[in-house]
Amino acid sequence: MLNPFIIGKRIYLRSPEPADEEIIALSENHPDPRETLYYALPSNIRIHKERIEAKQRDPHTVFFTIATINPDQPIGCTSLVRIDWVGRMATFYIAIARKKDWDHGFGREATRLMVDYAFATLNLNRVQLHVSTENVRAVKAYEKEGFLIEGTLRQAMFHENHYSDFYLMAILREDWEKGRKP
Ligand SMILES: CC(C)(COP(=O)(O)OP(=O)(O)OC[C@H]1O[C@@H](n2cnc3c(N)ncnc32)[C@H](O)[C@@H]1OP(=O)(O)O)[C@@H](O)C(=O)NCCC(=O)NCCS
Repeated sequence: MLNPFIIGKRIYLRSPEPADEEIIALSENHPDPRETLYYALPSNIRIHKERIEAKQRDPHTVFFTIATINPDQPIGCTSLVRIDWVGRMATFYIAIARKKDWDHGFGREATRLMVDYAFATLNLNRVQLHVSTENVRAVKAYEKEGFLIEGTLRQAMFHENHYSDFYLMAILREDWEKGRKP
């Protein structure tokens, strides 16, 4: 494992290394992840290198590469952004770049590791996210890891020639404490 920070059962999380720029760029550019992530503009690897460095310097962001342990290889990225250190709240993001890596439980494990990290390490109180109502795989993964749907943002984004509704989902520290503390 290269510079692991959080080690799970089948994946680990690390601060992005230069070797990860390609998979992170892929997760925002390839048509497969863009089907549910809705990025409308292209971004090359040089831009991602700059963005990664900016995120690593930003005190309101924690950004990780997701890598499988065996084989040891990067598969995507996950982050807590807009961290409010007074309100103790953050917004969660995750992207696994290649379709072949979906539906193997990696997204759920990464979500669980990030939620545990948010509450047990960063002492946050609320982790929220926005997800297209059409992204059933993601909604199910989040629900299974303790997030609740709190509301619907109507026609929140435009994608593939139609407006999509988005769910606002969140997990509170008290939900997590009732469920599964590490
Ligand atoms: C969304 C994402 C992170 C989920 O990660 P993943 O590794 O593919 O998902 P997991 O295998 O961990 O969990 C998905 C769960 O949803 C279930 N699921 C998948 N498709 C489903 C469907 N159509 N209906 C019902 N349940 C479904 C799976 O069975 C699984 O539940 P299980 O563990 O009980 O079997 C990943 O697919 C991804 O990065 N996609 C592209 C980018 C993206 O959409 N990011 C999220 C933006 S909010």
